[in-house]
Amino acid sequence: MSDLPGASETVNLNIQEEAHALSVTIGTYNEKGIDISKLLGTTGHVTLDPGFKNTGSTKSAITFIDGINGILQHRGYPIEQLAELASFQEVMYLLLQGELPNANQLADIEGQIKAETKAPEGIKTLLNALPDGSHPMGMLSVALASLPSFYPNALDSWSDETVRWETIYRLLGHMPVIAAYVYRRSQNLPYIDPNPELDYVSNFLYMMFGEVDPVIADALDTLLILHADHEQNCSAATVRMIGSSHVNLYAAIAGGNSALWGPLHGGANQKVVEMLESILADGGDSEKYINKAKDKADPFRLMGFGHRVYKNFDPRAKVIKAYADKILDKLNVDDPVLDIAKRLESSALNDEYFQKRKLFPNVDFYSGIIYRALGIPVDMFTVMFALGRLPGWVSQWKEMRESGDPIGRPRQIYTGASKRDYKPITDR
Ligand code: SDX
Repeated sequence: MSDLPGASETVNLNIQEEAHALSVTIGTYNEKGIDISKLLGTTGHVTLDPGFKNTGSTKSAITFIDGINGILQHRGYPIEQLAELASFQEVMYLLLQGELPNANQLADIEGQIKAETKAPEGIKTLLNALPDGSHPMGMLSVALASLPSFYPNALDSWSDETVRWETIYRLLGHMPVIAAYVYRRSQNLPYIDPNPELDYVSNFLYMMFGEVDPVIADALDTLLILHADHEQNCSAATVRMIGSSHVNLYAAIAGGNSALWGPLHGGANQKVVEMLESILADGGDSEKYINKAKDKADPFRLMGFGHRVYKNFDPRAKVIKAYADKILDKLNVDDPVLDIAKRLESSALNDEYFQKRKLFPNVDFYSGIIYRALGIPVDMFTVMFALGRLPGWVSQWKEMRESGDPIGRPRQIYTGASKRDYKPITDR
């Protein structure tokens, strides 16, 4: 462990016999980042790192991931403890404020969000205008991007501390209402408006299904915690990038939501269950699909497997897997795809292809099986991921604005045609 976050040392970069001293920032757990912020000016070189596999975009104090040892902590608290002992709204406070709330602070954030657990009637009009069969994640992005129109004072959501928190609490309160409206619209069911008597998760379930099962509410609260933040993942990095132009919070979140939709990111939970269902329909031969996943000529990937950072078990997947057994048992659900998932996992973990590439189940591998048992349709799974990830996105945006990080504008290496003169169309 370093003496303190932000400690530094230097390394030398030798370019054509010239040594350039670069400072190294050392993190809380001794992660080391070479500061290249002056590299172009001092060496005439930029770095090249498609997908930013080796590049840190910022310093952050929100979430720590140790991908080698399968560790995930939010503000220092292990995800296993938060999932078992905390509520989702406690974790919201922790991510936003940096500390677990005391009783008064928890009551305050719960009250602030309850007061904002509503949505403009115009959101229903917008959703009704979209074609039947629209994907819920597309509907969610439309609704999120419309919020600055309904709340113009959010356009400059950073300048004034009071407006900033009003903007944040409004989004945290509106999100479950919008997500439930999106579900009802996708099922062509009448909207159910929030019930102020209910707590955050119970109200969401009420707006979704018109009833609340405490077993499902408890399971959902834990699943939302397990999705709350994950440092600089694709969608959080997108929120930071969009937010770095100083556009309003709602526009940045709408963009992050679109990034999450992708099947390589949050959209994977939907693809996992669709994959498991197709394996079941094809006779349940998991070995056949393990071999397809290994075949470079076959575009099939084992969805829910692999991770950019985790080269060991995703600690969230461990919790969710244990939860899947417990919840399906409690709900008396016997889902054959769970057995297929377990067989796939067992085969993959004992297969040299997956071992060599350090491919383990990630957060999306089992989560969809629980959502399905909770009665949530597969095209709503990524909306559930977004509902959980929202406090993380907001916390990342807040930290980015507080830190004064510059507008994101990566460089490139140009490999196109060199200078040439325009040719008349008759000469082409
Ligand atoms: C999430 O970043 C985050 O923190 C994300 C997330 C969060 O909480 O925000 O954790 C949520 O997005 C989880 C990941 C969900 N996506 C999937 O489950 C989709 C399936 N997985 C992959 O597509 C892939 O593993 C990624 C996208 C997750 C990671 O891709 P990388 O890091 O770019 O790795 P890669 O694609 O370069 O793969 C490395 C090797 C390749 O083989 P080789 O070329 O070396 O021979 O592993 C192979 C890949 O072909 N590989 C897989 C595989 N994933 C990687 N082979 C088969 N099945 C897979 N799932």
